[in-house]
Order: sequence, then C-alpha cells, then structure tokens
Amino acid sequence: MKIQNFYDKDTATFTYVVSDTETQKCAVIDSVLNYDMHAGRTSTTSADEVINYIRTNNLELEWILETHIHADHLTAAAYLQEKFPQAKIAIGEKIVEVQKYWVDFFDIANEAKTDGSQFDKLFKAGEKFKIGSLNCEVIYTPGHTPACYCYKIDDAIFVGDLIFMPDVGSARCDFPGGNAREAFFSLQKILSHKDETKLYTAHDYPPQNRQLSCFATVFEQKERNVLINKNVDEEEFVKNRQERDSGKPVPKLLLPSIQFNIRAGKIDDDFFIKIPVNKI
Ligand SMILES: [Fe+2]
Repeated sequence: MKIQNFYDKDTATFTYVVSDTETQKCAVIDSVLNYDMHAGRTSTTSADEVINYIRTNNLELEWILETHIHADHLTAAAYLQEKFPQAKIAIGEKIVEVQKYWVDFFDIANEAKTDGSQFDKLFKAGEKFKIGSLNCEVIYTPGHTPACYCYKIDDAIFVGDLIFMPDVGSARCDFPGGNAREAFFSLQKILSHKDETKLYTAHDYPPQNRQLSCFATVFEQKERNVLINKNVDEEEFVKNRQERDSGKPVPKLLLPSIQFNIRAGKIDDDFFIKIPVNKI
C-alpha cells in the first residue's frame, strides 16, 4: 500500500490517494474543489494535482471516498469522476439523514434528492470492500456529524474529522445532528485498535512551533491528545468538547459546502447557492 497526501492550504484539508502497489488500483479520500466564495466560482488546482499524480503513476482510480459531508470545503468528487468515469463515489448510508436535514433547511426539496442517489455506493457500518487487493472496512463514527465514517485500509485508518493531531484535539460536535457523547464512543472505537495503527486525519491546524502533519498513531493519541487521551473519561470529554464548541464561529464555507456536498458535487449549469438570512 502507498499513501500519498495532498494539502489544500486554503481549507487546511488533506486529500489522500491510497494505492495498491500490486494492482495499481487506488482510492481518493476527501478531495477538494477550490472555491472563491466572493465570486461564487470553483476551480480545480487542488484536484488537478491529485489527477496528475494518478496519471503520472499509472494508477487506476476505483473509489472516490468521502468520510462525511464536509462543512469547510467543496468536494471534487464529481470532477474526479468526470476525469475517471469508472470510479465510484461512495459515502456512508446515514448521509440520507444529513441530506434530509439540510434539504429541509434550505427548502430545496424540488432540487436535491434525499435518498443518497447522487452517490454510487452507500456503505453500511462494518461493510468490507477492496481497493485492488487491499482490504478495507467501513467504521461508523458519528459525533462530529451523524454520518461520519472512517475507512480502515490495510493497517491504516482514515479518520476524517473524528480526531486531529494530538496537540489539536478533535472536531467540533455542534453541527446539526452532532453529538459530543457519540463522538466519545466513536473515538473509543478507533482508539481500541493496535497501538501502532496510524490514524490519518482530514485536517491539520498546526500550532506555530510544529510542522504540518497528517497522522499520529493510536498510541500517540492515547498518550497525549489534548482532548481525548487515556486519562479522559466520557463526562470530561463531553464537558471540554461542549465548552470548546460554545460560541465557535460558523465555518467560512459552511453554506456553499453543504449545498454542494450533499449533491456529491453534481450540479447543473443553473445551480445557485442559497444564503439564508438569520437562520444559522
Ligand atoms: Fe468536517
């Protein structure tokens, strides 16, 4: 297995290309479409780097995986599928709950379906699949959103926003359907893997004295994660998480991201983003 990361600095997002060195098949996890919110214009610099890597290395893109509906960047899933039509866009099945909430919120039932049909595959919790000869497993990890999933690929886990680098902590749980207590149990699920298991995160926000980094081991997280180490119990985690979340600003790209991402990035030429006033 080979893991290549790409960092989009505008949104602090890691995109991963995970490839099977035996078969050259690969998956992209959490891609980014660049977005100029003032102009309402998308561009493809970040996704093109990924595409270029796939082509240069003669890889065959099998899966375009999303860990959840992101609120801080637009997904490049549809753009990648345009370039690699055989690749399947996949996400966890609880996406339909997230779609229902936001379609109702934006009042767009006539425009966006809430059955997950924009995605080619809706994974069930615990479902197994392959990238070439690599064994993969879907782990359901709600908390940040009700439809967050981790992907265990061989001996690595791609955790999305479940946990960040140890000095950063974990993701907010104050979005609709988010739940700090559920996040605690999801974190226990992931931290129960072997100590040496590498956890690859979807974002990094390094403090000034540290370089950007995309993974830490289960052991490192249990030893020194500032929010969820081995000495932190459920009540303490929930209290600290809720304190951190109270008054947290709305992510800059939340409104466009959600409307774009619940459609897997598949938009018509006449697509408009709605900005509801005084609703959030
Ligand atoms: Fe997120």
